[in-house]
Amino acid sequence: MSLLEVRELTMKFGELVANDRVSFSVEEGSIVGLIGPNGAGKTTLFNCISGLYRPTGGRILFGGADITGLAPYRIARMGAVRTFQVVRPLKEMTVFDNVLVGAFLKCPDSGEAFERASECIRICNLESVRERPAGDLPIGGKKRLELARALAARPRLLMLDEVMAGLTSTEMKAAMDVILRLRESGITLMIVEHVMEGIMPIADKIVVLEGGVKIAEDIPLRIAGDERVIVAYLGAKYGRRFRTGKEGAPVG
Ligand SMILES: Nc1ncnc2c1ncn2[C@@H]1O[C@H](COP(=O)(O)OP(=O)(O)O)[C@@H](O)[C@H]1O
Ligand SMILES: [Mg+2]
Repeated sequence: MSLLEVRELTMKFGELVANDRVSFSVEEGSIVGLIGPNGAGKTTLFNCISGLYRPTGGRILFGGADITGLAPYRIARMGAVRTFQVVRPLKEMTVFDNVLVGAFLKCPDSGEAFERASECIRICNLESVRERPAGDLPIGGKKRLELARALAARPRLLMLDEVMAGLTSTEMKAAMDVILRLRESGITLMIVEHVMEGIMPIADKIVVLEGGVKIAEDIPLRIAGDERVIVAYLGAKYGRRFRTGKEGAPVG
């Protein structure tokens, strides 16, 4: 049994079909990348899985339970937690307190929540700014804060929506390290990412969406050579660079 199973998921906004009978599964302990051009339906898929939208068709199973249409807080409590593409921290609150909000989702005990928040601050390299108002952080810091907040809720499945967008290449390498360490600690990850250099080397599997439809699902190496994916999204140049290893071979 997979940790997450998406079956024939459909999400319509009036006439627009943002997700069109999308099916795939996410194995426990794996990293699955979700890619595709702007407007492909990636964020909508996260919104459906995390309960923000009630899908117009299909089923979502998490840990074997049907979570289709459940309230977001219930899905998060069950262990499927996501970050938001547009980061909106509680600006006046400190970085630490923002992470604490995430920790309280799973820890009723405040001592435990404080400890968990501190741990996530450390994992996400936010110690030097923990007492700063969250609104003061540059984009890289805000992205790390968003990750720390989600992590504090002790997810089984962590869904990251473009956490590497706008990062410098050093910040991106650090983010990839954090993601690999999270997987080692037993967290399953689903990652929406535009930065191919950030996702291709660390993913076990890539799912490609275009116009709401799943057009491919495979290991990164084969995705990079998939004609349809190259035309829809990657560009021939990227596919070639990745296959010849100049872009960093897949690891793990
Ligand atoms: N709440 C909404 N209401 C209407 N249309 C939406 C809504 N959310 C997303 N869409 C549309 O669904 C499509 C997919 O959007 P989105 O999931 O954000 O794509 P991606 O994250 O892949 O860039 C787009 O055409 C977008 O305009
Ligand atoms: Mg998006």
